[in-house]
Amino acid sequence: MKRKGTAAERLAGEFKSAMRRLAAGVTIVATDGRGRPNGLTATAVCSLSAEPPQLLVCVNRDSAPNAAIARAGRFSVNVLATRHKALALRFAGATGVQGAERFERGEWTTAKTGAPVLADAIAFFDCSLVDAVESGTHTVFIGRVRAAHAHRNGAPLLYAAGAFQALARKVARKKRK
Ligand SMILES: Cc1cc2nc3c(=O)[nH]c(=O)nc-3n(C[C@H](O)[C@H](O)[C@H](O)COP(=O)(O)O)c2cc1C
Repeated sequence: MKRKGTAAERLAGEFKSAMRRLAAGVTIVATDGRGRPNGLTATAVCSLSAEPPQLLVCVNRDSAPNAAIARAGRFSVNVLATRHKALALRFAGATGVQGAERFERGEWTTAKTGAPVLADAIAFFDCSLVDAVESGTHTVFIGRVRAAHAHRNGAPLLYAAGAFQALARKVARKKRK
């Protein structure tokens, strides 16, 4: 049987299937320009360096938060717990709510840079935007971390195999001799 699609389309499909195996922590990336908050659910978040403390976030260029982050020059990364699943769906557009309206759920406060932060996130990073690289459909935003807080216990919300997940158990530690 002949396989469907061009070679590029097949590779894109294989890329997506393989990426589904990469379990990721779920975050909300939030920004605020002139009192108008915006944000999205994002798993494409990665530590870049500790000295100086920097992280990167990949955001679709067609999304509303992409332009908002570029304009505001600041953003926060809020690490979600399993109890935040509904909020993750809301910030992923699943409820049809956009822009500032997304912030009507959850307890949002303002961080030092002026970016909104989720008060009961298990951790948050408050960043000023230092670089933005456009590549393909996405922008890689590089943030210089101005403040970082790991302030709550809680099971991290994960995304893998196309669904929200939770850690089942800790991986056993090898006994030291
Ligand atoms: C688990 C999960 C992870 C996501 N990760 C990203 C991401 O890393 N980058 C991104 O641009 N969109 C990501 N999205 C999609 C955005 O959250 C979604 O498109 C959002 O609605 C964009 O905001 P807008 O509707 O205001 O344009 C993710 C969605 C889900 C459900």
